[in-house]
Amino acid sequence: MSKERTLSIIKPDAVAKNVIGQIYQRFEDAGLKIVAAKMKHLSQAEAEGFYAVHKERPFFGELVAFMTSGPVMIQVLEGDNAISKNRDIMGATNPKEAAAGTIRADFAESIDANAVHGSDAPETAAVEIAYFFSSIELN
Ligand code: PPS
Repeated sequence: MSKERTLSIIKPDAVAKNVIGQIYQRFEDAGLKIVAAKMKHLSQAEAEGFYAVHKERPFFGELVAFMTSGPVMIQVLEGDNAISKNRDIMGATNPKEAAAGTIRADFAESIDANAVHGSDAPETAAVEIAYFFSSIELN
């Protein structure tokens, strides 16, 4: 097992539902430690930059509009195999396909309002963490 860090975002739908604490509990129960965190209302440019890899996809405009619709909670999670562990507890992108007991199955409404984001690989985790956190904010 290797100790990793991953970027997690609690999206505007879950922040509006007031379930940040319940989602943090899921992270902690899975052995993931919150090592940095900030709440932020993303600007259009910040959301477009974060999701630049998806800019050619048909839902890009909707995704950016949703992610700028209200504040998000952004955190760095640390633990053994943190990237895949976080993806496991998040559940499938489409909450209708998410396994019972996952964050998306329990808190998400639709494929666009799907409660959480998690980095999908070590390379993207490094880029995504650096996008939102400076080295001085990371212990
Ligand atoms: S994933 O989880 O990155 O493998 O999923 P992917 O299918 O590649 O989707 C990338 C992000 O786009 C969001 N998404 C959508 N938003 C709006 N409308 C539609 N139809 C849609 N399909 C996918 C999805 O929630 C992913 O967001 P993040 O923040 O990366 O989880």
